Amino acid sequence: MGAEDRELGVLHVAPAEAEPPPPLIRIRGLHKRFGAQVVLDGVSFDIPEGRTTAIIGPSGTGKSVMLKHIVGLIRPDEGEVLCFGTDMARAPEPDLYAARRRIGMLFQDGALFDSYSVGDNVAFPLLHHAPRMSEEERRAKVNEKLALVGLPGIYDRATASLSGGQRKRVGLARAIIMEPEIVLFDEPNSGLDPITSDAIDQLICDMKAALGVTFVVITHDIVGAVRVADYIAMLYQGKLIAWGPTERVLRGEHPVLRAFFQRNLVLPGAGGSGLPHLPHIG
Ligand SMILES: Nc1ncnc2c1ncn2[C@@H]1O[C@H](COP(=O)(O)OP(=O)(O)O)[C@@H](O)[C@H]1O
Ligand SMILES: [Mg+2]
Repeated sequence: MGAEDRELGVLHVAPAEAEPPPPLIRIRGLHKRFGAQVVLDGVSFDIPEGRTTAIIGPSGTGKSVMLKHIVGLIRPDEGEVLCFGTDMARAPEPDLYAARRRIGMLFQDGALFDSYSVGDNVAFPLLHHAPRMSEEERRAKVNEKLALVGLPGIYDRATASLSGGQRKRVGLARAIIMEPEIVLFDEPNSGLDPITSDAIDQLICDMKAALGVTFVVITHDIVGAVRVADYIAMLYQGKLIAWGPTERVLRGEHPVLRAFFQRNLVLPGAGGSGLPHLPHIG
């Protein structure tokens, strides 16, 4: 069973605020194609500071490509992504690195090194960015982050021995070790059973309350999106078809959005068959 099997059920949806806070990330007129395939076809929206924004849409719709634009790993064909006002495609390298240091990223598979201990995985960015930090201080920082993600005292555990949910938690501890202002999550529920998925959603909510930073959660799992997000941006066939406070997006009229929600917003992972309501994408 995967996160796809979760039911929408009764959810607490964050009430819409009258005005979003000012944006920390601005996405403007983003176009990206690979060969003949248009992946992003003029996408614009804002990611408000101090809130959780979910970017949702079926598999293969360009969510991960969007995330890579946000960190400046992919250049748009047209348009721009501004993080903290820095143009992530065109800024000089020092500015780009400075902006990237303010962003933490939780990769889909956790991207942990199995040959390292848990603690050394979490410490990795510190070794790179703060090489003069003492071993003692580094360990203390790592232990603090591990406790924050609900895994106290496992610094010396072998990474290979972790469960799927624990790997996500450790990945998250590493994503926040530099105390970033933005944390990006690529499919935080993927590959997890429903109960572990729920626990990760709860962790994301708790972390947001504890850290007060800006979260961006990329997901095709609508249940997770609705649970964690204050704002939702929905991508479909390269376009933004909805953006706004979660509560309002849930009441949106767009037929694709309605179909996506009414079916518990379940979409198969890559290689699966499409929903009856929706053309198969990707
Ligand atoms: N580097 C790349 N080169 C060519 N095609 C790519 C590349 N990255 C992504 N794509 C294509 O772009 C589309 C969107 O991919 P992706 O953003 O990973 O989708 P998802 O919404 O599932 O995260 C897919 O069809 C994928 O094959
Ligand atoms: Mg993806």
